[in-house]
Amino acid sequence: MKKNWYEEKINKFSSIGGYQKPELNPDALKLDSNENYVIPKQFQNDIISSARKNSDVREYPLGGVERLIQMISKFIKIHSSMIGVGNGSDQILDLILSNFASKQTKVLTSNPTFGFFEERCKLYSIPLIAIPFSSNMKLNIKDFVKQSKNADILYLDSPNNPTGFQFSKNELQKLVKSFNGLVIIDEAYVEFGDYSLSSIVKTQENLIVVQTLSKSFGLAGLRLGYFIANKKFTDVFMNVLQYPYPLSTITIESGILALEKSKIMKDAVDNIKIERKRIIDNLRKYDTFEVFDSKANFVLFDAHGAYKRVYLALAEQGISIRKLGKIGNHQGCLRVTIGTKEMNSKFLLAIRDLLE
Ligand SMILES: Cc1ncc(COP(=O)(O)O)c(C=O)c1O
Repeated sequence: MKKNWYEEKINKFSSIGGYQKPELNPDALKLDSNENYVIPKQFQNDIISSARKNSDVREYPLGGVERLIQMISKFIKIHSSMIGVGNGSDQILDLILSNFASKQTKVLTSNPTFGFFEERCKLYSIPLIAIPFSSNMKLNIKDFVKQSKNADILYLDSPNNPTGFQFSKNELQKLVKSFNGLVIIDEAYVEFGDYSLSSIVKTQENLIVVQTLSKSFGLAGLRLGYFIANKKFTDVFMNVLQYPYPLSTITIESGILALEKSKIMKDAVDNIKIERKRIIDNLRKYDTFEVFDSKANFVLFDAHGAYKRVYLALAEQGISIRKLGKIGNHQGCLRVTIGTKEMNSKFLLAIRDLLE
C-alpha cells in the first residue's frame, strides 16, 4: 500500500469544512447558540458540587448510565428499556447516521434543517431530499408525504432549528405512521413547543425520538442527550454501537440531580416562553423586519437588506446573535436566542437605538 494512501481521504474531509461554530467572544451577551441563561447559575453550581461529592473519577462509571436511565425513565414516564443516552444528542444522531445510513440511503428532511445533522450527512456522503420552507417559514406536510416513497430515513427537528417551526401533532403523527423506513424526530427544543412524539414510540417500531438536557435544563456544556426507541434498537445502540462508557461520572451524577429538580427547569421554560412573545411582539413593530412564529427558545427574523448592518451594530455593542442570511426567498435572516429578561431588554434596546 502507498505510504500516503490516506491523503485523498484527508483532502476530501478538509473540503467539507465542518460545522461552523459561532465566534468566541468571552465578553459578549451570548444570544447566538440557543443556550439557556434563564435557569439560575445556582442550579448548576448545586448539582455539580453535589455530583463531585458523589463521584470517584479514579473509577469507570460502572452502573452509572443505568441509574441515569432509570431517572430519565421516571422523568419522561417511559420504560427504561426504551431509553438510551449519548454525549449530547449530537453524538446519538452521529452514531445513528454512521451505522444505519450510507450513500445508498436517502434522508428526507427540511431545508433548512439542524446544521450539524446536515454536515454529518455530507461527511458520510448520505444524499438528502430537502423540502424547502414556504415564505412564511412553514412546511407543507403534503410535500413530505409525496417524497416519502423516495426516502429511507425521515429526519425532522421538531421544533425546527433555525425557524422555530413545529408541525401540528396530528400532521406529524400521520406522516411518521405512513413513513416506510427509519424515522428520527429530534426534539432538542421540545419543552418550548406544543407536544412530544415520545409516547407513540411504544406503538411505532421505526421511530427514534431524540431529546437533550442542553436546552431546557441549561446544561449544554455537560453534553447529555438521550433517545426513546423500541427495545431492540435501544439494546443494540447501547450495547454494540455506543461506547462502553459514553458519559463522564460527573455528567451522569449531575444529570441525575438535574432531573430530580425538574421543577426549576419548568419554571425557566415558562419564563422563556413569556419572553419569546415579548421579543416577537417588539420586533414586529419594525417594518424592516419580518418576524416568524417560534415554538423554540429562539426567534428567526428576516432583516432583509439591513441584516448585515443589524448584525454588526449588535456585535459592536457586544451582543452576539446568529447571522444566517438566505433562507428560501428570505435574504437576510437572523436568529436570536431568548435570554434572561435583562439580556432581552438589552437586545431590544440596541435594536431600538439602531432603527428609531
Ligand atoms: C435541533 C438540534 N438538535 C440537537 C442539538 C444538539 O444538542 P446537544 O447539545 O444535545 O448535542 C441542537 C443544538 O443546537 C439542535 O439545534
